[in-house]
Order: sequence, then C-alpha cells, then structure tokens
Amino acid sequence: MWEIIDKLDRLRGQARLGGGQERIAAQHRRGKLTARERLEVVMDPDSFEELDMFVEHNCADFGMQENRVAGDGVVTGVGTIYGRKVFAFSQDFTVLGGSLSESNARKICKIMDMAVKVGAPILGINDSGGARIQEGVASLAGYAEVFQRNVLASGVVPQISAIMGPCAGGAVYSPALTDFILMVKDTSYMFLTGPEVVKTVTHEEVSAEQLGGALTHFTRSGVADFAFDNDLNLLKQLRRLLSFLPSNNQTPLPRIETGDDPRRDTPSLDTLVPDDPLRPYDMKELIEKVVDNYDFLEVQAGYAKNIIIGFARMDGRTVGIVANQPLVLAGCLDIASSVKAARFVRFCDCFNIPLVTFVDVPGFLPGLQQELGGIIKHGAKLLFAFAEATVPKITVIIRKAYGGAYDVMSSKHLRGDLNYAWPNAEIAVMGPKGAAEIIFRNEIRSAEDPEAKLKEVTAAYAANFATPFIAARKGFIDDVIMPRDTRYRVIRGLRTLAGKQLTNPWKKHDNLPL
Ligand code: HXC
Repeated sequence: MWEIIDKLDRLRGQARLGGGQERIAAQHRRGKLTARERLEVVMDPDSFEELDMFVEHNCADFGMQENRVAGDGVVTGVGTIYGRKVFAFSQDFTVLGGSLSESNARKICKIMDMAVKVGAPILGINDSGGARIQEGVASLAGYAEVFQRNVLASGVVPQISAIMGPCAGGAVYSPALTDFILMVKDTSYMFLTGPEVVKTVTHEEVSAEQLGGALTHFTRSGVADFAFDNDLNLLKQLRRLLSFLPSNNQTPLPRIETGDDPRRDTPSLDTLVPDDPLRPYDMKELIEKVVDNYDFLEVQAGYAKNIIIGFARMDGRTVGIVANQPLVLAGCLDIASSVKAARFVRFCDCFNIPLVTFVDVPGFLPGLQQELGGIIKHGAKLLFAFAEATVPKITVIIRKAYGGAYDVMSSKHLRGDLNYAWPNAEIAVMGPKGAAEIIFRNEIRSAEDPEAKLKEVTAAYAANFATPFIAARKGFIDDVIMPRDTRYRVIRGLRTLAGKQLTNPWKKHDNLPL
C-alpha cells in the first residue's frame, strides 16, 4: 500500500510540475504566474480540487508519443470563490505552449458540462499557443466542442475569460462567446491573425500589442471588459466581479451585509448638476454616492465612455447600473455606447440582476459617420434590450431626456417599473432652442430683433416644456424626487419590486437587430 501511495505522490508531483522547472522559471521571468498558481490565487484558500490530472494526449504523430505530460497542458477542476462553487480551466503554457489537444479539450468540456449541470460559473484562464499543431483537425474539433458548450451555457451560468498570455486564431472565439473578458497589460494578446500574417496580407506593420494587447481591446475594440497591470490584480478583481454575480440563472442574487444605511442621504447630490444645462458633471460621482459603500465595479470603463455600465450593491444586493456620462460627447448615444450598454442589459436580464438607469441624454449623436455605421440598427439593440428585459427596472432622469433617446433609456413605455426624475429634469422631444426654432419659426422671422425673439421663445419653451412635470402629469414619471433622496428611493423601489414576475410571449428566441 505504501508503495502505491508513494507512487501516487510521485505522479502528482510530476504532474504539478507541468512542463518542468525551467519552463516554470521562464513563465515567471515574463511576469506571469503558472496555471496552478493562478488557480490558487483566484480560488478560496485550499478550495480547488483538480480533476483529470493524469490525462495525457493520444497523438502518435511527429514523435508526440515521446512527449507526453500528465494533465496535457490544462488544469481543470472546481473550487470556491467567496464560498460559492466555480468550475475552472487554466491553460498551462509550460506544456507544449498550453496548446489545445483533443484530450485537453475533453477535459475542458467535462468541467463545462458539470458546471451547467450543477449551475455554477465557468472560469477559463487562457494562456495558449492555440490549436495543437501536431493534432490537426482533432484539435479544431476540440475547439468547436468548447464553442458549442459556451453557446449552450450562455445565459445559464456566468462565463468569465481571463486572457493571461497568447490567445490567437480561432481560439479567441471561446472567450468571445463568454460574458466577460479580462486581460493583462503587456503579457496577453488576442487576435485572429498575428502581426506576420497582417504584414503579408495588408502590408501593415503592427506589433502584437498594437494589434491585440490589453489596452487595444480595452480602449479601442471593446473586446476586453477589463485590463490590469499584472496577473495578481486581474485575479483579485476577477474574484470581485464574481462576488456580484449569481451562480446561475435560477438562483437568487448573492446578498451581503454592506453596513451602508439605506436611508443615508447625500445632500451633495442636490448641487451636482450645474445650473447651466450645457455644463457637464461627472455621472460616476452620482453613481458612487448612491450605491452601497461607494463600491462600483465599472465594466468596459475604457470604451465608449459616453455610457457607464457596471455592478454595484444596493441594500446589499447586486444591481446593474447603466448611466449616460455627460462628460463624454455630452452623454449622447452613439453606435459604440448603444452596443456596449445593450450587451450589459441583456447580461443582467439573463441573470435576474435588477437594472438601475440614470439618464442624462441629449439624444443620439448626429453625423454621417454614425448613420453610415448603422446607428439605426445599433441603437435599436439598446432599445430592444431594455424592452425585452423582465428584471426590475428603475430609472432616474437626472437632467436631459430628449427625443428617441428618452424612449430608449429604460423609459416607462419600455416597461420601466419605477421611473423617477429629479426636479430639474428636462424631458421633451428636443432641446428648447431647437424646438423653439421650429415651432416659432414665423414669429422669429417676422420679429424686429429675431435673435431676441428666439431667446424669449426659447426661455418660454424651456420653462413650460423642458421640465419633468408634463411627463409626471401623464404618469410617465412616477415621482419627482429630491437628488439627496435618490439612494433611498431606489432601494425602496428595489424592495417593492423584489417579487416581480413578468414573462415575454413564448418564442424560440428573439431576433435582436444584430
Ligand atoms: C504545439 C506549440 C504550439 C502549438 C506553442 N507550442 N504553440 N506546440 N502547438 N500551437 C510549443 C512550442 O513548440 C514550444 O515548445 C512551447 O510551446 C513554447 O512556445 P515558444 O514558441 O517557445 O514560446 P513563445 O516564444 O513565447 O511563443 C509563443 C507563441 C508561439 C507566440 C504562441 O509558440 C507560436 O506562435 N505558436 C504557434 C501559434 C499558432 O500558430 N497556433 C495555431 C493557431 S491556429 P518547446 O518544446 O520548444 O518548449 C488556431 C486555430 C484554432 O489556433 C481554431 C479554432 C477554431
């Protein structure tokens, strides 16, 4: 018996070394943790149970029978994060560059299947040279098996991808199918075709970092939801992200005792919005002051900054926040911000996370570029997402809510449950000046001093129409609330809506304007 135990220990020890000490040292020299170290950091201490540690590849071509390592380049298993089960795979770059073989894909699929069966999130840590070249189509088949599972798990359990090394070619599509992508600056990249291929085909000279580094995807393409300076920061924030999410689409949201008084008022909000409607202010300040303990996890903070999305807690329970940002493009909706927010709204709806929307939107961004880029179709995505969402929806109009953008931003008419406005809100078809120019065109033209006349009618229009009261009289706004009370009113609303039941008509699936 002792002999067998010794052998088991030896085999486990060998497996844990992956591609060996030298390759582990090389990984460290690059500032990267190993596959197992990453799991140790991200999971609760001693909670990770590794499965399939002894699996080897089944390839006999290109001398591969001499090149077998237990585990075959991916560590898979289950652990807990803040006490809740999470299934994970972590690609081991020290073994054949973490490349994906048939056996290695089977390991990944096994834990994905288990995660869906038991209703727990799936975490994929990507650090791989892509398809195991020696295995050819068997490796491609393995990828497709993973993709298929990503799609079926979508909306059932949260799926998170950490990109912590190379992720290239078709391999990018598994992360792309998941809910959130986190990247590490300088050591990770994602692209379909690398710099060499780009140079051959388009003659463009770009570095891997420019083409697919963390900052590129965080600020330019919108592919990455988060970017961090190093492995440790990423893993720490990944834990934080998961702390906001339910384990699956049928369990209640996690609730934690935040200790922040629901009735805490915030008098400084009374003076947040400048008197001059053309002057911006920082919507993030509002969000942070309203949510529990100022703790707001912004998603896609570097991309389409004219809209803010992210998670927070109110009364201890997770909410999804969507808010226009007047500091960027005056808070207008454009293609990028519509798509960014639409995907977030749909994520929240999948996982029963109530939506709290703060509105200050002068309209859709005008321009040839936007129209040619298809703002009609892309703006419709956000409208669609809010309209189909059945989670509790609370909207607070902070200042402007003009035109179609008023409708889109979780208005009453899109089944908004509780729609509030601050007293200075301006809810109308368009801004006072534009409206006055059209309505009073003849009076302005025939006036002795057309400019003075325009000023006069604009002021009259603003006083009568750019207010929350017309909408409130029609019941489109449920109440006009004081800025300082916003936190409590939203929390009260969430309590009121806690048992909300709403289902959409049966359909196979909808036809979101993609
Ligand atoms: C087999 C691979 C491999 C792969 C790397 N290795 N990628 N083995 N299949 N795809 C091995 C290397 O041979 C090497 O083995 C070890 O991993 C480390 O690789 P290095 O090249 O020494 O590391 P580095 O210099 O850091 O370069 C990393 C790399 C490079 C940029 C990822 O290895 C690379 O370009 N690999 C090939 C990438 C690729 O073309 N993959 C296929 C993409 S197509 P030794 O024994 O020397 O240590 C694809 C299709 C998916 O993925 C389709 C899904 C639909």
